[in-house]
Amino acid sequence: MLSAAANERLTRVGPGTPCGELMRRYWIPVAPAAQLDENPVRKIRVLGEDLVLYRNTSGGLGLIGDRCLHRLVELRHGIPDERGLRCPYHGWLYGETGACLERPMESAKGEFKFQLKAYPVREMGGLIFAWMGPLPAPALPQWDLYVWPDCVRQIAINVIDCNWLQCQENTGDPTHSVWAHGHLFKYVLERQGNYAERAASLDHTLHGRTKWGNGIKELFAHPTPHGFEKGIVFSKELGAEADLTRRHSTVIFPFMTQTGKAGGPRSEYQIRVPMDDTHTYHICYQVYAAPPGVEAPKQEGVPWYEPPERDEKGELILDYVLAQDALVWKSQGPITDRSKEILGRTDLPILLLRRQLEEQITRVGQGLEPMNFFASDPGMLHGSGEPPSRTRSLLQTYRTLYHKGFASDDADRYGPAIELVKILHRRIEEADIAARAAGQAGTNETVA
Ligand code: FES
Ligand SMILES: [Fe+2]
Repeated sequence: MLSAAANERLTRVGPGTPCGELMRRYWIPVAPAAQLDENPVRKIRVLGEDLVLYRNTSGGLGLIGDRCLHRLVELRHGIPDERGLRCPYHGWLYGETGACLERPMESAKGEFKFQLKAYPVREMGGLIFAWMGPLPAPALPQWDLYVWPDCVRQIAINVIDCNWLQCQENTGDPTHSVWAHGHLFKYVLERQGNYAERAASLDHTLHGRTKWGNGIKELFAHPTPHGFEKGIVFSKELGAEADLTRRHSTVIFPFMTQTGKAGGPRSEYQIRVPMDDTHTYHICYQVYAAPPGVEAPKQEGVPWYEPPERDEKGELILDYVLAQDALVWKSQGPITDRSKEILGRTDLPILLLRRQLEEQITRVGQGLEPMNFFASDPGMLHGSGEPPSRTRSLLQTYRTLYHKGFASDDADRYGPAIELVKILHRRIEEADIAARAAGQAGTNETVA
């Protein structure tokens, strides 16, 4: 449990708040680049600020305040120009620095004294990132899934109506899978009347997840250079199938989690971007890599999609993993009142997550650089701190077998690239079977 004051400190993200200042030390993904192909001007909300993201007709990106300085018209209705964005009302032109470059009908020459708020933006891996912190902007870190070669990619976007920390705390919660993605999944499929059809195979995700509830001895959580690792220790004596330790997804400070590893047949960043105190811009950055010897189908750009929350009757859709997570995050309330919670032994990693967040907020308050701030380019970064191994054999999990129908259990099923992913997964399995027949180890990673 947290005091009301501590809860405020960890959750509020507006300008000048302690956590908001921490967040302004990171490049923040704000939109899929493909959205600007559909419409080159978009209103966005990030860290409590209303902004307009645009691509000018020369291909340059800009992120500026959302209202024209003249008479406050919304610039989301603006007209892209060679040098920037023009207000639709009287044509004032704003460049990428936010400077007003032209005031048609007012003065023939450029006047730079009128200045809108503006932030630097960069593009990487099909996402647009904004720097909202002190200038000059540091290097944009190349986390491996954004830049890994020979992949199919797609980007799922959802606006979740709750504070970002509820979504991120899910990352520090290895045991929620037992219920939210195990027993709840089963209940949902039973109510739909298709449990036998969807979950007959023991490869189905819910069976594995439900089993994780048996024989838990303890949880563990340790800080790592980029965040922390955590997981569950199982005991045969307490009812588990064997004595073993299972690591859960990788936490990358401050707002990312990673399932699977770069180079694997299915890996993902879940990115919890605070739009404001009570809304989260949730990005599932999904990557399906071809191992050596297998060719990934080619893509023109990285497509995006919005996994639906409700069906045509207005009922919640709960038969896929992300929807189950989103349900529980939102159900905790706009900003959950952590002064009322009752934590147990399974919440141990959440305590570390909160401590780490508090420590890094304090560092920024002291004028120091926080974790995962890189003043210069550190090269390709791996969330776990280690380059991924490519030597593990293929385990037949539902996320490596999308070509056999298992995509239906993830948000991925709605994605525009899913047919390419199925082609890739088929090729990977065929290569793996051939490698096994030849007596070689497989080339694929499994996923969390
Ligand atoms: S209100 Fe924008 S140019 Fe007049
Ligand atoms: Fe989950």
